[in-house]
Amino acid sequence: MKRVFFNIGELATATGSAAVCGCAQSSVRKLHRAWLLEEDGTILAAGEGAAPDADEAIDCKNKLVTAGLVDCHTHLVFGGWREHELAMKLQGRTYLEILAAGGGILSTVRETRKASEDALYEKTRALMAEMLRHGTTALEIKSGYGLDLETERKQLRVVQRLKTENPDIAATFLGAHAFPEGMDHEAYVDLLCREMIPEIAKDGVAQFCDVFCDDGVFTAEQSERILNAGKRCGMIPKMHADEIKEIGGTQAAARVGAISCDHLSETGRAGMEALRDGGVIAVMLPATSFYLKKPYGDFRGMIDAGVPVAVATDMNPGSTPNLSLPFAMTAACLYGRLTPEEVLCGATLNGAAAIGMADRLGTLEAGKQADLVVWDADNLDQLIYRYGTNRAAAIFKRGARKI
Ligand code: NIG
Ligand code: FE
Repeated sequence: MKRVFFNIGELATATGSAAVCGCAQSSVRKLHRAWLLEEDGTILAAGEGAAPDADEAIDCKNKLVTAGLVDCHTHLVFGGWREHELAMKLQGRTYLEILAAGGGILSTVRETRKASEDALYEKTRALMAEMLRHGTTALEIKSGYGLDLETERKQLRVVQRLKTENPDIAATFLGAHAFPEGMDHEAYVDLLCREMIPEIAKDGVAQFCDVFCDDGVFTAEQSERILNAGKRCGMIPKMHADEIKEIGGTQAAARVGAISCDHLSETGRAGMEALRDGGVIAVMLPATSFYLKKPYGDFRGMIDAGVPVAVATDMNPGSTPNLSLPFAMTAACLYGRLTPEEVLCGATLNGAAAIGMADRLGTLEAGKQADLVVWDADNLDQLIYRYGTNRAAAIFKRGARKI
């Protein structure tokens, strides 16, 4: 069946099937008074002027249409919430102080261990539906709130179950998210490399392996060991780095050939060059900086250095309980000093590239999947500018209306 989306006020899309950077990142294509034709979930063509005939015609009411947003960094499967940390934050306790006191990630670990798989599934499913309502049609989900094989497996099984609802979910094993309470650090790194990673790989439930490489968590050397163990088992490396302090994470990410390195709010010139030379995508998470009241990172510098930049939410119960990618996009523009075009590219094509989906997602071009959002905004600038309310008006996945 052919479907035509007509009367599109502005069709804004990145172009291509690989992460792009710099000038290329701003070479977003904009069509006006436009249309888009799809057949059985695949885009056939897009253009300006009179729309072609089709079996079904959808009036976009002169609004903005973009590709479905791709949120390439979330921690969506977790037990409980952490609103009780708000008071501690207001007293000036830092993220790491709360973690060191047995709160933070470790309190979510306790809740996640306790929760049944079904309860986690229902909760994550509802969160994913909320993300879809905000325009996110593809996403990545990490484990990392188990820190033991059984619970990490439970989280990743939830992700697998969600894939029956939306096949465009990437699963990431983040057993190296923190050290289990009372356990020797080196012993846990050994356990990850020798047992947990091979077992998770055998289950076939995670394509990516991630590690929280930062001050007080995993060292660059430990991170490299863990990601190499993942690689030997067929998992593609990813990394959380330079969120708190630069401890060599970017260089380690480049050495192991990570597909992306995320957070990077403290990264300086040498780190940027390491990412560029290693072909690593930088994932910016400005909603986390907002909520932790921390620096946003030099993402303008990142683009100027030649590193492709993606934008994601980092949705999790501690450092940023926000699942709106449009909110992160506005923050990336204002505080990361990216142009609206670079931000759109970061939340679509480059996000898709950071989870290995850029061959089929991230742009509105012939051959790509017809995942698109009609926004209650006249143009891209207006979408970024009218932050704080949900502007997603209609959402289509493989051509079919979801919202
Ligand atoms: O990406 N930085 C490490 N991990 C998460 C936070 C997880 C949590 O606080 O529960 C993040 O921000
Ligand atoms: Fe994260």
